[in-house]
Amino acid sequence: MLQGQRTALVTGASSGIGAALARQLAADGWNLVLVARNEERLERIASDLRRQHAVTVDVLAQDLAQSDSAHRILAWTRQNERTVDLLVNNAGAGSSGPVIEADDAVYERLIALNITSLTELSRLYAADMVRRRQGQILNVASTGAYQPGPYTAVYYAAKSYVHSFSLALAEELRGTGVSVSLLCPGATATEFSSRAGKADLTSAMPASQVAYAAVQGLKKQQCLIIPGVSNRIVIILSKVLPGHWLARMVARIQKPLLLD
Ligand SMILES: NC(=O)c1ccc[n+]([C@@H]2O[C@H](COP(=O)([O-])OP(=O)(O)OC[C@H]3O[C@@H](n4cnc5c(N)ncnc54)[C@H](OP(=O)(O)O)[C@@H]3O)[C@@H](O)[C@H]2O)c1
Repeated sequence: MLQGQRTALVTGASSGIGAALARQLAADGWNLVLVARNEERLERIASDLRRQHAVTVDVLAQDLAQSDSAHRILAWTRQNERTVDLLVNNAGAGSSGPVIEADDAVYERLIALNITSLTELSRLYAADMVRRRQGQILNVASTGAYQPGPYTAVYYAAKSYVHSFSLALAEELRGTGVSVSLLCPGATATEFSSRAGKADLTSAMPASQVAYAAVQGLKKQQCLIIPGVSNRIVIILSKVLPGHWLARMVARIQKPLLLD
């Protein structure tokens, strides 16, 4: 699947893991549709990729927290005759601070982006892929999907949703020719923490390393892709330790990262 003139639609491609995925997919010969809000940044990445690789790169500026964005993206790809062979639901945003101090609108947008948009895009494109009996979906969760996340509670809970939804969808689509993979990075060196209003963890992995693991996993149609040994250990421990212990451990890590 990762060869020839195929098209990947990557959300959140204007920075971080999404931009790194776009670079690696273009190097593998994929045509791309890059989606995020910041059109200028998307255009810059697209023109670099067009120059470096013999691929078509389209840019589609969309706010995925808006309720009809998934339908608008599907309509755009149909009108422009872009058959999406690989959908990468990567766009995401974090939260920081105690839940009771949060602004309603911030959490509404977080849920709309991390949960609703990912669900809608997965459903709409999976239906098309099943009709063609081929396609791949990569949903980006986090090691946080396996833990309660005090001081980033709604974000971790949203990633638990992505984990559960993606594994369930993968099972429903078994035998249809369409595979669903779930990427679970740990701390990654991107703009993510600063955008969420917290400090970076010093142990963060480069986005290019996460993207490399993701593309290798996609080539093998792996259901669960966990970049790096330390992230695998975190997930194994998270499965065996009691939830309230994990919550206390995560609180000890997350609370000092909060910025005023
Ligand atoms: N960095 C980490 O430590 C880490 C760890 C585990 C999982 N992840 C996950 O990895 C994914 C990528 O994050 P990242 O680390 O690469 O962070 P990032 O550098 O902040 O990138 C986030 C991307 O999502 C896009 N985005 C944000 N809100 C959007 C919206 N409303 N509509 C459309 N696009 C939107 C951003 O583009 P615009 O601002 O241009 O819209 C950007 O391209 C996320 O799902 C995140 O939860 C990150």
